[in-house]
Amino acid sequence: MKITNICCIGAGYVGGPTMAVIAKQCPDIKITIVDINEARIAAWNSNNFNELPVFEPGLADIIKETRERNLYFSTDIDKAIDNADMIFISVNTPTKTYGKGKGMAADLKYIEICARQIAKVAKQNKIVVEKSTLPVRTASAIKSILDNTGNGVQFQILSNPEFLAEGTAVQDLLNPDRVLIGGDASVKEGMVAIQALVDIYSNWVPKEKILTTNVWSSELSKLTANAFLAQRVSSINAMSEICEKTGADINEVSKAIGMDSRIGSKFLNASVGFGGSCFQKDILNLVYIAKSYDLNEVANYWEQVILMNEHQKNRFSDNIVNTLYNTVSGKKITFLGWAFKKDTNDTRESAAIKVADNLLNEQAKIAVYDPKVSEKRIYADLDDLSTRSSDENKNLLTINKDPYKACENSHAIAILTEWDAFKNYDWKRIYKNMQKPAFVFDGRGILDKKELEEIGFTFYKIGSGK
Ligand code: NAD
Ligand code: UGA
Repeated sequence: MKITNICCIGAGYVGGPTMAVIAKQCPDIKITIVDINEARIAAWNSNNFNELPVFEPGLADIIKETRERNLYFSTDIDKAIDNADMIFISVNTPTKTYGKGKGMAADLKYIEICARQIAKVAKQNKIVVEKSTLPVRTASAIKSILDNTGNGVQFQILSNPEFLAEGTAVQDLLNPDRVLIGGDASVKEGMVAIQALVDIYSNWVPKEKILTTNVWSSELSKLTANAFLAQRVSSINAMSEICEKTGADINEVSKAIGMDSRIGSKFLNASVGFGGSCFQKDILNLVYIAKSYDLNEVANYWEQVILMNEHQKNRFSDNIVNTLYNTVSGKKITFLGWAFKKDTNDTRESAAIKVADNLLNEQAKIAVYDPKVSEKRIYADLDDLSTRSSDENKNLLTINKDPYKACENSHAIAILTEWDAFKNYDWKRIYKNMQKPAFVFDGRGILDKKELEEIGFTFYKIGSGK
C-alpha cells in the first residue's frame, strides 16, 4: 500500500518538525498538519520565517522549501482527516491536573477527542499512527473508540513514538538513531499498515535502523528511553553534589566514566536540573503505571529521578541565597537563559522557572536575558505557578533584550541555560558594571573558572569542588 496523503493532528514541537521533514524527504506525499489553535496555524503559515511557532535550527529552510509544495497547515481538521490515508496523532499528553491520577497520570483527553473525531469523519479505511507519547496499552483504547463509534470502516493502529530532542530536532529527524514502529503483525492488515509506514521512512532512513515491534513494546520503549535519559542526568547531578563537598570535579568524573564504552560519554553534563515538557511527565506516567499494577518498588525507584531533580534546582537557589550572605532581599540577580536548554525557545518545566520562584520568595529582584524566549512567555511561566500575583511578578522580575544591560548593577549572575553565546561575552565589561563582590553561579558548567576568577568574580560552578 502506498501512502499519498497524510494528516497530522497537532502542529506543535513534534507535529511541525516531524511532518516538515517527511514532506522534505517524500515530495510525492501530500501532508496537512491541522490544529485547533488558530494562532499557531497562522504562525506556521506566516511569511515571516523568524516567527514560526517553533524555533529549531534548520527548520525555517525546510518550511520554505516544502510549504505549499506538499506541506500544508490548516484548521480544517475534518477535511484533512477525510482526505488522508494515514493520520498521525501528535497532540499534547500532559500530566493530569485533576481527578484520579492527578499530578501523575497522562491526561489522554486530547487523544480521545482526536480518536472520536477520526471515527466520526472517516468514510474509508485509515491507518492511525500514535506519534504522541502515551501510556502502554493506549492503542487498545483508541481502537475501541474507533471501532465502536466509527462508520464501519477499518482502522489499523500503529505506534511510532518520536525520539527527537528539541534544539536538534531537524538533525535528529534526518539522521535518527532508530525509527520505532509498533503494530499488529499477527494479521494481514496490520502487516500492510506497518509496511506502509516503513516505506515512508525508508525514503531516507537506512533499513537496519527501522525497528518493528508489537504495539505495547513500542509504547513502553518511549517511556523507558526518556526514563533512562532523565535518570542519567539525575545520576550525574547527584554526583555533582558529592564533587562540591569533596573537591572532585564533575567534568573530570564525567569524562572518566564516559570513556567506558558500556557507559558512553553522552548525556553526562551536570546541570541545574533537567527541564523540558517530557522527562518529568513521562516518568510520572511510568510511576503511575507501575503503581496501578501494584509494583510499588518499581514506582519508588523511578520517582527518585524526579525527586533528585527537584533537589538539584532547590539547592542551586539555596546556594545563591547562602553565598550572598543569607539574604537576597532587594538584590538584583541576573538570569542568563530561561529556555530549558540551548537552541530552543521552549521553556516548559525549565529549571529557570523554579529557581526564579525560589529567589522571588526571598524578595530578590531578577533581571532575565534569553536570546530566544519572549517576554510574554517568561511572565506566563511565572504566573502559571500562582505563587504570587501577576503584578507582583512584573514588579520583581524584569526582562532585558540586551545581556549587558541585564547584568548592570547586579549582585550575582546565574547561568540557567547553556547558550553558546554566553561563553564569548566580554566578562571584564560585565564585571566592571556589577555590584562588588560580583558573583557568578554557573548552573551549566560552561564558563572558565580560572578566567572568571582572574577577572575578580567569585565563581561557583555546578559540580566543581573548592
Ligand atoms: P505541543 O503542545 O507543542 O503541541 C500539541 C498541539 O496539539 C497543540 O498545538 C494543540 O493545540 C494541538 N491539539 C490538542 N488537541 C487537539 C485536537 N483535538 N485537535 C487538533 N489539535 C489539537 O506538544 P508537543 O511538544 O508537540 O508534544 C506532542 C506529543 O509528542 C506529546 O505526547 C509529547 O510527549 C510527545 N513528544 C514531544 C517531544 C518534544 O520534544 N516536545 C519529543 C518527543 C515526543
Ligand atoms: C528529550 C529526549 O532527549 C528525546 O529523545 C525525547 O524525544 C524528548 O525528550 C521527548 O520525549 O520530549 P528534550 O527534552 O527535547 O529531549 O531535550 P534533552 O536534550 O533530552 O534535554 C532535556 C533536559 O535535560 C534539558 O533541560 C537539558 O539541559 C538537560 N540535560 C541533558 C542535562 O542537564 N544534562 C545532560 O547531559 C543532558
